[in-house]
Amino acid sequence: MDFTFATEAVVDSFASTPDPRLRQLLQRLVPHLHDYVREVRLTLDEWNAIVEFLTRTGQKCDDTRQEFILLSDVLGISMLVETINGQQSGTESTVLGPFHMTASPRRELGDSIDELGGPVACVVTGQVSDTSGAPLPGALVDIWQCTEDGFYDVQQPGRQQPGNGRGLFRADDDGRFWFRTVVPGHYPIPTDGPVGTLLAATGRHAFRPAHVHVIASAPGHRDLTTHFFVDGSPYLDSDAVFAVKKNLVVPFPEVDDADLAGRYGVQAPFRLAEFDLVLEAVDS
Ligand code: BEZ
Ligand code: FE
Repeated sequence: MDFTFATEAVVDSFASTPDPRLRQLLQRLVPHLHDYVREVRLTLDEWNAIVEFLTRTGQKCDDTRQEFILLSDVLGISMLVETINGQQSGTESTVLGPFHMTASPRRELGDSIDELGGPVACVVTGQVSDTSGAPLPGALVDIWQCTEDGFYDVQQPGRQQPGNGRGLFRADDDGRFWFRTVVPGHYPIPTDGPVGTLLAATGRHAFRPAHVHVIASAPGHRDLTTHFFVDGSPYLDSDAVFAVKKNLVVPFPEVDDADLAGRYGVQAPFRLAEFDLVLEAVDS
């Protein structure tokens, strides 16, 4: 039987779409979807199960939960879209994730974003520069991370104040920034919805390796959305959302230097991470 006729008819049905980009998106989507159905010879029961799964995915969404983005994350689509659209030189980008939902409190350089008083202090330092190496004074560095045991503030309203693990910093005249924190833990993405069911049905784990999120911005430059990952963390080679890039993995060594500790306002020994941020000019 010839299954191609329907594809051509559906593609042609979008031929008069006024917006050329919308026309292209739809006319290219249809052949891919139809090829998939033909290739796997999708059964009616399977199609009904897919519709049911997508319905439950939509029903799980609300103002603070976006199950469709989570689905896109575990299918690797978020990472692909970010990589295609992120900056092509400078620091590599990676996924935004769902936990950038509250504004980070404005903090001064050297402040701590850890309001729980974790047992081992960690200092993060870095410099924001352009792709020629020139510093970007006054760049904004928005940081968010989970606790040592792997929870964001919004996941533990009884234990963490809003803003714990978050900070919006303005780099100094040399583009430098530094702050105190704790070393974040690895954690599972939310599994109490259809995406969790999908992971369980396919024998996949839900964990993300330990990381700190960053959005860096400076006038005339593209916003950079990225993470830096804690070297040695479990799951660096099997991130549930495929967001690890090897240049984003940084060491967090223990430093036993009382003078340096004093300068950062922490006790020795402490953990120290250095992560520079290189932004592309808007017109590059
Ligand atoms: C996150 O890193 O916060 C994240 C990213 C994708 C899915 C879930 C969580
Ligand atoms: Fe995260």
